[in-house]
Amino acid sequence: MITNRTFTMIKPDAVDNGYIGAILNDIISAGFKIVAMKYTHLTAETAGAFYEVHKERPFYADLVRFMSSGSIVAAILEKDNAVEDFRKLIGATDPSKADAGTIRNKFAKSIEANAVHGSDSDENAAIEGNFFFSALERY
Ligand code: PPS
Repeated sequence: MITNRTFTMIKPDAVDNGYIGAILNDIISAGFKIVAMKYTHLTAETAGAFYEVHKERPFYADLVRFMSSGSIVAAILEKDNAVEDFRKLIGATDPSKADAGTIRNKFAKSIEANAVHGSDSDENAAIEGNFFFSALERY
């Protein structure tokens, strides 16, 4: 398994608010290389499958509804220590608790509309990247 990669989505709130360029600029400025990227749209079914690990949590239905409410940008990123460094770059899940200068601090409005997703482990980064990208696309 390649372990210097992580997976991200720019979520519907950030896409709708016109933050794609600014967020990608922060990601690249922090030293991440974009390995694969696509502008796409989750359905309720595909969002439900992506977040299935959270299906017992009380916010699951809201999360699936929100993530299928508009376009997203999905990307695989490469950098040494990618998963941990990217989680630091994006900040806490709840933007009111995200450190100043982090992507969620700058671009997110709520725990649901929190601008970006970042994988929480090397294993999940691989699973999530494979969910969106074929072997050819993520070479
Ligand atoms: S994390 O990043 O996995 O540690 O965060 P966690 O708190 O476990 O949340 C998992 C994802 O669920 C989203 N979330 C919510 N959505 C809607 N409403 C509420 N209340 C809520 N709480 C958490 C959170 O943004 C995480 O989404 P991803 O895409 O994984 O960042």
